[in-house]
Amino acid sequence: MQILKDPKEFQQLCLEWRAQGQRLALVPTMGAYHAGHQSLMVAAKASDARVLVSLFVNPAQFGPGEDLAAYPRTPERDAEIAGAAGVDVLFTPDPHAMYEPDHVTWVDVPALTQTLCGISRPDHFRGVCTVVLKLLLLSQAHLAIFGEKDWQQLAVIRRAARDLNVPVEIRGCPTVRETDGLALSSRNVYLTPEERAQAPQLQAGLQQARELALRGERSASALHAAARAHWAGHLPLGREEYLSLVHPHSLEHMDTLGETAVMACAVRLGKARLIDNILLS
Ligand code: PAJ
Repeated sequence: MQILKDPKEFQQLCLEWRAQGQRLALVPTMGAYHAGHQSLMVAAKASDARVLVSLFVNPAQFGPGEDLAAYPRTPERDAEIAGAAGVDVLFTPDPHAMYEPDHVTWVDVPALTQTLCGISRPDHFRGVCTVVLKLLLLSQAHLAIFGEKDWQQLAVIRRAARDLNVPVEIRGCPTVRETDGLALSSRNVYLTPEERAQAPQLQAGLQQARELALRGERSASALHAAARAHWAGHLPLGREEYLSLVHPHSLEHMDTLGETAVMACAVRLGKARLIDNILLS
């Protein structure tokens, strides 16, 4: 596995591989790898492509007062995991190499980002979309892979790539969970043992809503009530930030469950802010 820091060198190598007719698959990450990240690397490898993984804690997607400085960083371990997963290139640029001091160009998808996580993190998706577009343009990857755990992020990136005619396939992969149901996240390290014990109830609440939907309930407020009732009983340390039933692609709020919808939520649990979602169809 090659480890490259310089964006120009990374782009040069990718262009050479493309010129040789090789397929390129990109997995953008911020490091602190867990089995969720590994699953994306495995999916990239299985696509019969050169696997490019970017490891960049992107300052542009952190708001003031968020955890940019404290974000877990485990570069040596990450390189070992990426190497073992068969990654061909690990791209680890420095922030100043990705953003010129006078950087002023942003990719913004307001229709999909003024909702859900975008309400409490107003500039977050602008930072995500911009860095992902930069990575797509540097790598010219044929395929880019993201986790469904961050459903809104995936929907926003899909839309930006489509709207800007980026010649890439955006692929989503299922959420990898602990055996107790907690979605793996680099930020789970912020949980105290007591919070960690309650955290799986986040997904369990969403499953209560899904069970009600399977029994025929169509009203979003009844489905929300089922999740909230579960959380009230089993997740007392949690503070709901949002719980919403949305269209899987447009992220428009739905009052009534249609053919398919995603129920997405964010809950604060001590220092951690956990997000999760469930597909209802
Ligand atoms: P990061 O949080 O490091 O996540 C990198 C990728 O791993 C994302 O596509 C995310 O959805 C996926 N992922 C995280 N937890 C997962 C899980 N439990 N199961 C499956 N996939 C999971 O998301 C980002 O970084 C950044 O916003 C990024 C896209 C790299 C832009 O900076």
